[in-house]
Amino acid sequence: MSLWGRIFAAGYDRIMAGPEKAVLRQLRKELLEPLAGRVLEVGGGTGANLRFYGPGVTELVVTEPEEPMARRLERHVADQQVSATVVRAPAEKLPFDAGTFDAVVSTLVLCTVDDPTRALAEAHRVLKPGGRLVFLEHVRSEDPGLARWQDRLEGLQVRIGHGCHPNRPTLASIEAAGFTVASVQHDQLLKAPPIVRPLIVGVAERSA
Ligand SMILES: C[S@@+](CC[C@H](N)C(=O)[O-])C[C@H]1O[C@@H](n2cnc3c(N)ncnc32)[C@H](O)[C@@H]1O
Repeated sequence: MSLWGRIFAAGYDRIMAGPEKAVLRQLRKELLEPLAGRVLEVGGGTGANLRFYGPGVTELVVTEPEEPMARRLERHVADQQVSATVVRAPAEKLPFDAGTFDAVVSTLVLCTVDDPTRALAEAHRVLKPGGRLVFLEHVRSEDPGLARWQDRLEGLQVRIGHGCHPNRPTLASIEAAGFTVASVQHDQLLKAPPIVRPLIVGVAERSA
């Protein structure tokens, strides 16, 4: 684990405090509260979503491959007395059987995984037929001018954001993975740098 990886994990909640207050908390709540059944969250980070899961969730599994993040996640699970299992695994190689979960949650993760195509194929595999991928992701801008800046500054953002690519066409990747997008809202990650502001929030279904 790199030194920057440890610093990034230690500072993550502080870096995100502005966007959390401005927009993320409300979006997380609206997206996660209605979920029910067996839920898998990938790339859980420090556990920003934990408090928003509703009573319909019967089992919550949260994966996180980065050790400094996973330790914070485990602390937050214990502090908030959430019933959740933390598993150290990348989204590209999930240690679960096919058709296990009713919902897979990905928030601000598909920008960072090494291989979004593989990660989405894994989400598709572990979902039950008719299961839902619930996403909140910052993405490539639909404004060509901003998209050009996202391309220019990608290398810098990858370094500062510990692997975060600002310019990924994530909605198209979700559709290409075989999901049917049931709802999508385009929003802005307020209080964040412009190249990571375009947000998509929604639900996609794995065909039955
Ligand atoms: C920007 S943070 C988002 C954390 C959290 N999901 C949230 O909404 O605040 C990105 C997370 O993805 C994790 N990550 C990086 N590579 C990953 C991979 N291959 N599979 C799953 N998660 C990964 C990082 O360790 C980090 O916790």
